[in-house]
Amino acid sequence: MSTNTTDNVKKVTTATIRKMKAEGEKVAMITAYDYTMATLVDAGGVDMILVGDSASNVMVGNATTLPMTVDQMIYHGRCVTNGVKRALVVIDMPFGSYQGNPQVALASAIRIMKETGADAVKLEGGAEIAESVKLILSAGIPIVAHLGLTPQSINKFGSYAVRAKEEAEAERLLSDAHLMEDLGCFALVLEKIPAALAKRVTAELGITVIGIGAGPDTDGQVLVLQDMLGMNPGFKPKFLRVYASVGDDITRAIAAYTADVKSAAFPSPEESY
Ligand code: KIV
Repeated sequence: MSTNTTDNVKKVTTATIRKMKAEGEKVAMITAYDYTMATLVDAGGVDMILVGDSASNVMVGNATTLPMTVDQMIYHGRCVTNGVKRALVVIDMPFGSYQGNPQVALASAIRIMKETGADAVKLEGGAEIAESVKLILSAGIPIVAHLGLTPQSINKFGSYAVRAKEEAEAERLLSDAHLMEDLGCFALVLEKIPAALAKRVTAELGITVIGIGAGPDTDGQVLVLQDMLGMNPGFKPKFLRVYASVGDDITRAIAAYTADVKSAAFPSPEESY
């Protein structure tokens, strides 16, 4: 099921995502953080756009996602929804906005939805955030859960290595995944876990499972935009496929412009009034 927007574009809804799982159609998800890139990403035909708290790394230059605030996520969220006509937009709830007190979690989620016009929020964690998940869902706000490598817990893990390789952690992840489905989340992101475990979770769950570094058998994939466009050359994890050399193109264009300005080749008479 889709909703017609004013431009007669069929908007992707949570019902569309559910139907795609039922019909075996893969879900393409990608991050975006600003208006211009969001319009380009939406035009490319992805099903879901994630306003990730990875904005902390790729937009702000922080080493972790922890510093992001609700206000900052709302700012990036609004920029993205202003540019999107079709894709379902999900906004990451930032560190500290949902982990402790479910009432705070609900208030944060309501602000994010009200002030951005997004379609859903994403939260990292399992049983430990169940009360927050329940309360947010009770307000009619769709949730994407996030298990495996959860970057907001980097200080607990101590590294960005593959998660759930040991049986005990894999069993806990499986149980958390079922819990998130039982609570009513409509989708689940699995980050950096063994492909076999992601395959098992995807087969056992009725909700859409989207992987990043979780192998080929999930219902969909998500990548960080700047990484897959080749704008982040120092970041080369095994799971990343780079589809363009946008970083090199930008640097080349800026160098050519700078040379033209310095030699007075720009602007030409045709480019002058
Ligand atoms: O913040 C983010 O970009 C994410 C993806 C890596 C799933 O959570």
